[in-house]
Amino acid sequence: MLKCLRFLKVHTPREWLQNMMKTVAVIPAAGSGIRMGGERSKQFLDLNGRPVLAVTLSHFQKCARIDAIILVVPPKDIDYCRIEIIERYTFNKVEKIVPGGKTRQDSVRLGIESIDEDYGLVLIHDGVRPLIDARFLQRVIDTAKIHQAVITGLSARETVKEVNNDFEVVKTCDRDRVWMIQTPQVFRYKDILKAHQKAYKEGWDEATDDSFLIERLGIPVKVIEGSETNIKVTTPYDLKLAGFILDQT
Ligand code: C5P
Repeated sequence: MLKCLRFLKVHTPREWLQNMMKTVAVIPAAGSGIRMGGERSKQFLDLNGRPVLAVTLSHFQKCARIDAIILVVPPKDIDYCRIEIIERYTFNKVEKIVPGGKTRQDSVRLGIESIDEDYGLVLIHDGVRPLIDARFLQRVIDTAKIHQAVITGLSARETVKEVNNDFEVVKTCDRDRVWMIQTPQVFRYKDILKAHQKAYKEGWDEATDDSFLIERLGIPVKVIEGSETNIKVTTPYDLKLAGFILDQT
C-alpha cells in the first residue's frame, strides 16, 4: 500500500501552476509559398544569411518560457529541415518534425495531435513570421495565466470596409473595433485540440486563424497589442523589408 502511495504524486499549488503553464510551440511551416513566385517555399528562403524558418526558430530556442517546439513542414522537406535547420543551428528544443497537410488549418491540427506530453499551453506561431522576439513571446505566455485564450494583433489604422463579389461596399466597419490579427496565439492544450478536432469533423479546413475555431467553442478570446515589425513574409517585398528590419535590431 505504502509503495503504491509513493507513486501518487501530490502537487503543491506552485507545481500545479508550473505544469499548467508548461508551453509547447507549434510552428506551421508547411506552406508552398506560391505568392512568392519562386521554386523554394518562403520559409526556406535566405534572410540575411539564414533560412527564414531558422530565424523564427532562434527566438523560440532563446525564450525560457518555451519548453518544446513542434515543427510542421512539407513532407518532402523533413530531412532538409532536420539537417540544414535543426541540427545546423542546434535547435534542441525541437521535439518533433511533423509532416503538414493541405491547408494551414490541417497542418496546425496535425501538429497539435502529435503532442503526447503533459503541456498545459500551446503557442501557435507562423514559421514565416521571423521578426518575433523572445521577450514578446514571454509576455504573451504570461498573459495566458490570466486569460484562457490570448491572441495578438494590431488595431486598424485605415478604415476597413467589407465588400461583395462585385467589390461594392457592403459595410464600413467601426475602426476602433477592428484588429488585424497575427500570431503568436496561446491556448489551453485541451481547448485547441477540441477546437481543431471539432472543425475537422464538421468539414471545416480553411480557417486562416486558430482563434476563430476557439471562438466557435464559445471561449472568450483576449486580444493584446502585437508588433508592427512582426510581418508575415509573403511576397519578395516582405522578404526585403524583413531583412532591413533585422539589420536594424
Ligand atoms: O498560408 P499563409 O501564408 O497564411 O501561411 C501561414 C503559415 O502557415 C506559414 O508559416 C505556412 O508555411 C504555414 N502553412 C502550413 N501548411 C499549409 C499552408 C500554410 O503549415 N498547408
